[in-house]
Amino acid sequence: MTSLTQLSQAIHDAPRWHQQDQFQHPDEIKIVPQTGQALGAVVYGLDARKVQSSKTILKLKQALAEHLILIFKQQSLDDLQYLAFSTYFGSIFRPGADTPVLAAQSDSGIPPDVVPVSNAVGQGDYTGHGELTPHADHQWTPLPSFGSLLYAIELPQDGGQTSWINTIKAYDALDEATKVEIDQLQLITYNPFVRRQKTRDQTDDQGYGSSPLYRFKDQPILSHAYPHPLVRTHPESGRKALWLNTHTEVELVNYDDQAGSQLIAKLREHISKPEFAYEHHWEIGDIVFWDNQVTLHSRRPFPADQRRLLKRISLAGSRPF
Ligand code: OGA
Ligand code: MN
Repeated sequence: MTSLTQLSQAIHDAPRWHQQDQFQHPDEIKIVPQTGQALGAVVYGLDARKVQSSKTILKLKQALAEHLILIFKQQSLDDLQYLAFSTYFGSIFRPGADTPVLAAQSDSGIPPDVVPVSNAVGQGDYTGHGELTPHADHQWTPLPSFGSLLYAIELPQDGGQTSWINTIKAYDALDEATKVEIDQLQLITYNPFVRRQKTRDQTDDQGYGSSPLYRFKDQPILSHAYPHPLVRTHPESGRKALWLNTHTEVELVNYDDQAGSQLIAKLREHISKPEFAYEHHWEIGDIVFWDNQVTLHSRRPFPADQRRLLKRISLAGSRPF
């Protein structure tokens, strides 16, 4: 027999229903919403190594749609166990080789299923130690991922906190005139990893930071363009959210340059208000699972000589509508 892929191996090795001590009873799990925060719920009593019941998975999916991020505490997983747990919620995000993303490998053009998000640990170290500005993962691709999980393995002494923004709340808080103005607009988010390849700009960590904030029509087009709605509807809850990051190059379709760049600047300022954000102070063993369709996330910088290792799994999503 041929050898299995990591993902097949993960499901192959996962504990089975008849293994009593590996079965997690749904009554052991408590989901506690973070009161007074813009989003998030903490999940207690769940061991992600165990077999989960349908009741638990459905409850978690509902909680994710409602609270937008789920925080699992005190996990202890290897990569296969992490894959087996994550894929209860969807299949792995695998962009085409025509769409460079974080950690895309030079041979295959695609990232590994479990991406080390790290600094100074010798595991790709793709994200460095700098600030990561608010973004949704893979927003610049034809089919952005529906959600991602980050699992904290090693943490720096200082900095490196991750924040999530509730973009449903940000949309809801807009005045009616702005909602009407933007409701039918489509936005292109240009791929920062293409810009980095083309301009050989290695100075910033994720391909962010050095790009223009808005493309004027007399400027070169560096990547393929995949217009998505600026106001996105969540596929399960039906709630509307702003689908716009704060710092990469974007362009409104069929819109005046000057008016477009001003509208986007105004919306970006609005999204960045602290009342829409929750900052997570990591502890080793935390897994944060976020809905990438209705949140943005960002990271504070931390000292270059301090080690930080989180592992990320991104799950496939549908075409935004
Ligand atoms: C990511 C990301 C933030 C962090 O992995 O997609 O944005 O805190 N990470 O490392
Ligand atoms: Mn990210």
